[in-house]
Amino acid sequence: MKILIVGGGGREHALAWRLSKSPSVKALIASPGNPGIAQIATCVPAPKDVTGYAAIAESYGVDVTIVGPEALLVAGIVDHFHQQRLKIIGPTREAAKLEGSKVFAKRFLERTGIPTARAINVDSYDEALLILKYFNFPVVIKADGLAAGKGVIIAQDHAEAAEAIQRLGPDLVIEEFLEGEEVSFIGISNGQTILPLAPTQDHKRIFNNDQGPNTGGMGAYVDSRILSSEQTGQIMDRIMIPAIVGMRESGTPFTGFLYAGLMLTADGPKVLEFNVRLGDPETQALMHSFRGDFAEFLGMMVSGVGGVTARAWGTCSVCVVLAAAGYPDTPRAGDPITGIEEAEAAGATIFQAGTKRVDGRLVTSGGRVLGVTAAGDTLPSAIAHAYDAVQNIHFEGMHYRTDIGQKGVRRW
Ligand code: AMP
Ligand code: GLY
Repeated sequence: MKILIVGGGGREHALAWRLSKSPSVKALIASPGNPGIAQIATCVPAPKDVTGYAAIAESYGVDVTIVGPEALLVAGIVDHFHQQRLKIIGPTREAAKLEGSKVFAKRFLERTGIPTARAINVDSYDEALLILKYFNFPVVIKADGLAAGKGVIIAQDHAEAAEAIQRLGPDLVIEEFLEGEEVSFIGISNGQTILPLAPTQDHKRIFNNDQGPNTGGMGAYVDSRILSSEQTGQIMDRIMIPAIVGMRESGTPFTGFLYAGLMLTADGPKVLEFNVRLGDPETQALMHSFRGDFAEFLGMMVSGVGGVTARAWGTCSVCVVLAAAGYPDTPRAGDPITGIEEAEAAGATIFQAGTKRVDGRLVTSGGRVLGVTAAGDTLPSAIAHAYDAVQNIHFEGMHYRTDIGQKGVRRW
C-alpha cells in the first residue's frame, strides 16, 4: 500500500513514523513533510491548493491519503479527492464545519442534544455586551472560525470580557465556563459507526500548572486510566455516536477522525469543541503507544469491521513539546538544534515539527520545534523517560513545560 500524508508537523511525523513500521505499507509520501519525515518518506513540496494534492496522489499511485491539518479539510480537499475517485481519510467540507465554524458546531450540539456548555451566538459588539448579563464570571468568549487554538479568551470580569469582545468580535460564541478536567477523545468514523482511539490529555497553556496564554499544545500523554470504562461508555453513548448519527441524518455524514475536546464536569462529560482531525501533540503520544499495524487498523476501522481493543495500545506514552524562543507569540527561526541522536539513544522518539535543514544543519523554523516522546510501564516512568531524553537536546531559547502528564500521576 502507498500512503500520502498531507501536512508537515509533529502530528504528521508521528503518523509517518508509525505507518513506516506497518508491513502492509510499501511507500510513504508526504506533502510538504519536514526534515524528520524525510528520513522515512518521500517529501513533495506543498502545492498551492487542494487540486495539487490530488495530482500528487495520482502521480505517485497513492492508495489512500491521510490529511493532518484542518485548513485543507475546511477548504474541501476530501470533496475534491472524491470527485477524482481517490481514496482519502477525512471529512468533506460540509462535515468539517464542525471545526471550521464554532457557531455551526454549537447549533449542531444543541439540535442533537449532545451535552455542551450553554452558549449564545452573537454577530455584533453591542449584542455581545448585552448578552454578558446572562452569564456569570468567568465567562468564555470564542471567535467564530479557525484560530489555531488562540481564539478563546476566558474573561474573569466585565472589563476583561468587553476587551475580549473588541479583540475577537463581532462574530462570537459567548459561553458558560465549565469546571473540570479536560480530555481529548478521538474516534475514527466511516460515516456509520465510530471507533475510539485511546484517551489522551493535552496541555494547552504555555506554562506549568496551566498558566499563561493558550498554545497549539505543549505536550500530551496516553494512559488508559484517564477514563474509567463507565466514562468511556458515557462519552460514546452521549457524544460520539450521537454526533455521527446527527451528521448522517443532516445529510452530511462525517468520515475521518473526530476529536472531541471534552470537559469532565460534575454533571458528566461535556463537549468544549470538535476538531475534525487528529490532535497535535496527541497524535505523537497515540502513535508512539500504538501496538500493531496501523495501516491495517485504519482500514479495519474505516470499513467498520472488527473491534478495537485496549490491547492495541501500550501502557503509557508521554510527549513533551520543545518550543522555540518567543513561542506562542512570535517564534524565532534559525536556531541550530543539537542532541536528537543522543536523545533517541536514551530511548525516546523525537518527532520533528518546526524544523528546517539549512546548509546541512537542522534549525528551528516554527513555534513547536520537537516532540520528545517516550513510553513506560507506568505513567511516572514514561514521564521520567521523556524528560531524561529532553536533557540531551539543545537550541537557543528552547523552552518547555516540566509538568506534562502530572495530572495523571495521582491515578497511579
Ligand atoms: P477550544 O478552542 O474551544 O478548545 O478552547 C480552548 C481552550 O479553552 C480549551 O481547551 C479549554 O481549556 C478552554 N475552554 C474553552 N471553552 C471552555 C468552557 N466553556 N469552559 C472552560 N474552559 C473552556
Ligand atoms: N492539541 C489540540 C489540537 O490539536 O487542536
